[in-house]
Amino acid sequence: MSKIFVDACFGKETPYTPVWMMRQAGRYLPEYMAVRAKAGNFLNLCHNPELAAEVTIQPLDIVGVDAAILFSDILVIPNEMGMKLEFLKGEGPVFDKPVKTEEDIDALIGGEEAASKLTYVYETIQLLRKQLDEREDNIALIGFTGAPWTLATYMIEGQGTKTYNICKKMMYSNPTLLHKILRKVTDVVKLYMEKQIESGVDVVQIFDSWAAAIEPSKYDEFSWKYMVEIAEYLKEKYPHIPVIMFPKGISAFIERGLVYGNFDVFGVDWGTPMAMAKEKLGDKYILQGNMEPCRLYSKEQTTACVEAIQNIMGGKRHIFNLGHGILPDVPVENAKHFVSECKRVSKK
Ligand code: CP3
Repeated sequence: MSKIFVDACFGKETPYTPVWMMRQAGRYLPEYMAVRAKAGNFLNLCHNPELAAEVTIQPLDIVGVDAAILFSDILVIPNEMGMKLEFLKGEGPVFDKPVKTEEDIDALIGGEEAASKLTYVYETIQLLRKQLDEREDNIALIGFTGAPWTLATYMIEGQGTKTYNICKKMMYSNPTLLHKILRKVTDVVKLYMEKQIESGVDVVQIFDSWAAAIEPSKYDEFSWKYMVEIAEYLKEKYPHIPVIMFPKGISAFIERGLVYGNFDVFGVDWGTPMAMAKEKLGDKYILQGNMEPCRLYSKEQTTACVEAIQNIMGGKRHIFNLGHGILPDVPVENAKHFVSECKRVSKK
């Protein structure tokens, strides 16, 4: 039987518009916190296929979403390229030796060797494939990666940043060096996504969470073209696997008509008006999104937004989602309300 989420990614008619939430497996769920405590910490959880599969499944039964997203993190990629990664309490991810020079880039593990080290991710996917196939609800499994640019921001800055000044100094004073990092990461990501598909994911999403750090006239050169290269590599080999692109915060780039490439679904962030995204991209791509995640703090505001998005999209060529990840202090019942409202307004 076909999966409603996969059908929607290809623009096929579905009984209602499917819905999932970015970061749906996470800290707003007490059940997630219990499993994370059992694992010891977040990275241990990513490294443990049984527990990672368990938290991947949680939001299906608790909030009723139509797709499961593999539980892992984008930063396991640079970690397996040889960069030591830690998640510090209250500070987020930290790499102890950021990449600064050509020698640092050459020292990183690349290609097949790096992609082959992510075995715990492939094992998690294999377990999930079995568990999802045993269920009757035909839930799709989404695999994912960070875009090369977003991964490079952490590799160069060593941690999250507000200004991106170290990356941008490289962008404007030594672009060749930045391209060398982006090339090496892109080559690993292509193989990583391919191995996720071979392990059993139904769909893949590329997260460019920090797209908005790049000025619109430079966005293609430093990020989008690498994302398109990854998407086109996958579409050529696996045309039946939908590819979702999620570049966050690039409405100026969309408005100028600069989005191109062979992929299926475009993830619209919450800062982009859905009507504008529909006008510019709706004929070419299925659109996913885009409720402002903080609307989840109010059920009334959630309902109003879901109805407004439904009015614009009309239940066609659309997947409901938030316009970025759900935050840890959102009440679980409000997340459930969002999911049930999406189904209610779009039911045919
Ligand atoms: O449910 C899901 O969406 C699947 C799991 C998932 C996680 N991270 C789990 C996670 C996914 C898809 C990601 C992607 C990710 N990781 C992105 C891109 C998506 C986005 O939100 O923009 C980015 C930029 C990262 C890097 C990252 N991981 C940061 C900056 C942080 C710390 C900030 C924070 O939210 O705590 C993480 C940690 C992280 N990744 C957590 C989870 C559930 C929280 C860790 C914990 O349990 O303490």
